[in-house]
Amino acid sequence: MNINKPGLFFNNMTGALTGELIGEKKAKIGDLRGIFADEVSRLAMDQDQLAYHVQYYFPVAEGTEGGLFFGNTTIYPGKVGNEYFMTKGHFHTKGDRGEYYWCIKGRGMLIFMDRDRKTWAEEMISGSLHYMPAHIAHRTVNIGDEPMTFGACWPSDAGHDYGTILEEGFSARLLEVDGKVTLVPVSN
Ligand code: F6R
Ligand code: MN
Repeated sequence: MNINKPGLFFNNMTGALTGELIGEKKAKIGDLRGIFADEVSRLAMDQDQLAYHVQYYFPVAEGTEGGLFFGNTTIYPGKVGNEYFMTKGHFHTKGDRGEYYWCIKGRGMLIFMDRDRKTWAEEMISGSLHYMPAHIAHRTVNIGDEPMTFGACWPSDAGHDYGTILEEGFSARLLEVDGKVTLVPVSN
């Protein structure tokens, strides 16, 4: 009978994934057209500046029913104008697929939006655990001065619908207003 050594490691302190089949995705300021409110400020920044990166483990092909994916995301500190660095945000393509996030380090905020465009946010601090119910768009934000890292686990057939957010956005944005982190409704 075989007793195998693990081929995959998750560092509880840093969130780093090491081992077989780890993939990586990087989002630079230049990749985030249409995401932040202040496009003039975004274009004036170094387009190669890293806003966030993702490491992921896909043990099965994307779209496979019944599998689970695992990843981490690190968002760097910074702002575009007065809007904190954040992820693109998405609904899952299969809308009835949920997800877990848990914060490993840093100070963040998780923004949720339902299909009626009702938006709310939850603070992310080391050890906080966040359940994304089905049919809810989700985006994460770094509101601190250090990189913010969280883990994620989601179904392998969830898929990512970025288009809806690119076209319609979230109905609120997380901005620094008078030195305070503020969830500001978007006026249409
Ligand atoms: C997977 C998931 C996360 C995000 C990651 C980057 O469903 O929610 O792994 O993909 O935090 O954010 P996006 O994908 O919005 O650029
Ligand atoms: Mn997701």
